[in-house]
Amino acid sequence: MPISKEIMEQWGGETLITHLDKETQSIVLIGIHSSQIGPAAGGLRMKKYKNLEDAVTDVLNLSQAMTSKFAMANMKWGGGKTVVYLTRDLDTTEREQFFMRFGEILQSLQGRYYVGPDVGTSSEDMDIIYKTGKPFVFSRTVKAGGAGSSSVPTAYGVYAGIKTTCKFLFGTERLEGRTIFIQGLGNVGQILLKILLKENARVIFTDTNPELVDRMLKEEPTVQFLPPDKSYDVACDIFAPCAHGAILNATTINQLKCKGIVGAANNQLSEPEDAERLKIRGILYAPDYMVNLGGAMGITAIEAEGVPEEESIENVQKTISETLAEIYINAKSADTTTVEAAMKITQKRLEKYLPNKIGI
Ligand code: NAI
Ligand code: PHE
Repeated sequence: MPISKEIMEQWGGETLITHLDKETQSIVLIGIHSSQIGPAAGGLRMKKYKNLEDAVTDVLNLSQAMTSKFAMANMKWGGGKTVVYLTRDLDTTEREQFFMRFGEILQSLQGRYYVGPDVGTSSEDMDIIYKTGKPFVFSRTVKAGGAGSSSVPTAYGVYAGIKTTCKFLFGTERLEGRTIFIQGLGNVGQILLKILLKENARVIFTDTNPELVDRMLKEEPTVQFLPPDKSYDVACDIFAPCAHGAILNATTINQLKCKGIVGAANNQLSEPEDAERLKIRGILYAPDYMVNLGGAMGITAIEAEGVPEEESIENVQKTISETLAEIYINAKSADTTTVEAAMKITQKRLEKYLPNKIGI
């Protein structure tokens, strides 16, 4: 849908920057959802979208989710996101030059927004952006002086979310013998799989990348693979979406044979009504921004606040376990969806700093 006054009002954020990168014909969209509590921070997503409207929708939703993540993490950072709408593939040199120009855009924002990696970008890309965008860059490689990939704290956060969800569903957070299905074995999914195997969980996974699937089956012979089109029919305790967003809708929710959903993917619900659909089906849904905040929280704490890595990962797990439990208890006692219960907590935390100023 094209951008409109209604959409901007619904977003409730501060500023949407649009920039045409003439050299690559890419469109850079920077959504600064909130920068009053502290500077906005959030990853740079770079990909080919079906159309520009989808890219705009993504930057608005994702920047809003970052505000919620930092509120749930109890950190004085705001929400932001960059989406780069690619019109063609870029070769290595073009990509590098693009990132150098992006660093200059960051400089022009004078610290109102800090970037990090996201889908389609890596810590190596952050190293390049840093050359011109210093210091407004998170998650550079360890070699370059950064904290490295955000996938590690993200995966540990999802793991904490799975344990809390099992505690609520089955009365114990022990994962031994539990069946967990991971959709998407990328950066986060692979780390999560290894953590779960250490806990003797039974892991089923899917991925669309055949080479990756072959490698994983060789590396971890106890795990089971199912083709991607079987994703919503898997009988399991926990479904962990770790590929991409908008996978839950009226059709897929009807098919699901899981008891809980806890995954890293951003914006898993296709529309707000899906939260109610899950509740009706008796599936316990861990709100995505609550259980995938580990990357943002962990990296920001390490790099901006000097928290040691191990302590930061522990803090991520503690924050997610405690707040997710609060969400589940509130949703049960008020007979609302977990999304509604999470939103109430987020709003309360934001109002502490900014009464009625930010729309989530
Ligand atoms: P990634 O790009 O490394 O991994 C995604 C994986 O999903 C790839 O292996 C890909 O082949 C697979 N995939 C794509 N479409 C699929 C489909 N239809 N069915 C099954 N598999 C499919 O991404 P990463 O970093 O692991 O992130 C995963 C998700 O978590 C993304 O949605 C990301 O936005 C979100 N997230 C990641 C964070 C991080 O720190 N990496 C932080 C917060 C959220
Ligand atoms: N891009 C990730 C997210 O969506 C993680 C991240 C954010 C990493 C900000 C560093 C800084 O949460």
